[in-house]
Amino acid sequence: MAMIAKKCSQYQVKIVDINATRIDAWNSDNLPVYEPGLKEVVESVRGKNLFFGTDIEASIKEADIIFVSVNTPTKTFGFGAGKASDLQYIEKTARSILTASDSSKIVVEKSTLPVRTAESMERILNNNGKGLHFDVVSNPEFLAEGSAIADLENPDRVLIGGHQTRDGLAAVEEIAKIYANWVPRERIITTNLWSSELSKLTANAFLAQRISSINSLSALCEKTGANIDEIANAIGKDTRIGSKFLKASIGFGGSCFKKDILNLVYLCEHYGLPEVATYWENVIKINEWQTTRSVKRVLRSLFNTITGKKIAVLGFAFKADTNDTRESPAHLVVRELLEERAIPVITDYRALPDAKRDLSDVLDKVQFAEEPYEAAKDSHAILLCTEWRQYAALDWQKIYDSMSKPALIFDGRNILNGEELKKIGFEFISIGKA
Ligand SMILES: NC(=O)c1ccc[n+]([C@@H]2O[C@H](COP(=O)([O-])OP(=O)(O)OC[C@H]3O[C@@H](n4cnc5c(N)ncnc54)[C@H](O)[C@@H]3O)[C@@H](O)[C@H]2O)c1
Repeated sequence: MAMIAKKCSQYQVKIVDINATRIDAWNSDNLPVYEPGLKEVVESVRGKNLFFGTDIEASIKEADIIFVSVNTPTKTFGFGAGKASDLQYIEKTARSILTASDSSKIVVEKSTLPVRTAESMERILNNNGKGLHFDVVSNPEFLAEGSAIADLENPDRVLIGGHQTRDGLAAVEEIAKIYANWVPRERIITTNLWSSELSKLTANAFLAQRISSINSLSALCEKTGANIDEIANAIGKDTRIGSKFLKASIGFGGSCFKKDILNLVYLCEHYGLPEVATYWENVIKINEWQTTRSVKRVLRSLFNTITGKKIAVLGFAFKADTNDTRESPAHLVVRELLEERAIPVITDYRALPDAKRDLSDVLDKVQFAEEPYEAAKDSHAILLCTEWRQYAALDWQKIYDSMSKPALIFDGRNILNGEELKKIGFEFISIGKA
């Protein structure tokens, strides 16, 4: 919404949330989300045509278009628990829109939703007895955290789905007009509602599948002497395959991939397609296996005992350039280290406050360090879990000198120069290399 405000001064953008603490943070110098370039965008328009508030009812009343961007986590109870999307926030929002509205509006699904959610939204909104009409449009968000501003400035495509009726098409065009202020028209794709809803789940399933595919083969590389980085480079040159998303790693994280694939799996089961459900579910299983087997490799290299040993964990965010730790593989790594009664010492450039929150139940068993040098001091091993580019440029000799010997590095993101590190004296293991 900040990007829309920046690109379209003719629109007044009001962001409202039930979480007042978060809104206060959005109105302060200390934004709640770290994203390169975001602060500059927010500061350039905040107070001009971008506003943050908690007056949800009044904001709904005065809006012509409402982007619904609430969370859609995996359901933890009842039918579909562990897989289906929990749509309570979406439903509550639809009901708030209905209660507060005294004029017809376009409602945009910006959250990632199961296919056919718009049908439920419309049933709630359009059975209103107020003579109001709501057009529901799907406009899924394809930005990636860490590169959100660049993705929004220059999207590969914007997708807008609506009913193929006169009103539906007019609503789609109203949303397309917003993006057309900076996105070339040919990159604004319009489809029917269900294609748009399902495209977002499909996109995330395909992206996650590429990571699980390369990670599954990284294990075979370790057994055979093949090198997964060389393989990724070789196959990525094939234009049919392409070079992106082929980096072997400790596993993917983030709030979306797992949740969205589980949602897809649930939908397939719901529609009586168990084979399709199993196919996609394995993308998640491989991901969890990849993280767990990585910790087991580290354990083997440390003589199968890490009880009482300090282990430095470099990076807790699920990827570089974000403070987001949701579903971070580093979190699973830390939990497994704790199972072995090791002492994890966690460092991260942006995510330490979130790490402390995530580990609040074990704060007496973990340590935190502002700097990688401090985290590594007296440790037996370093586990690099997040690909912060600063890690590649550390003074590794200094780190080696401060560690217990033999000093091990596990490069869970394949970003370090293993040969150089071995010359210093480190034992070095990485993903997909013997
Ligand atoms: N994070 C991403 O990279 C990303 C990318 C694409 C799509 N999405 C999708 O966007 C949606 C939101 O994701 P997120 O990461 O921003 O989640 P989030 O949990 O960080 O934010 C959701 C916000 O909605 C607010 N909220 C909940 N119910 C509300 C209500 N009734 N009225 C007003 N505010 C309410 C919450 O307080 C919270 O601040 C999800 O469906 C997600 O799948 C996220």
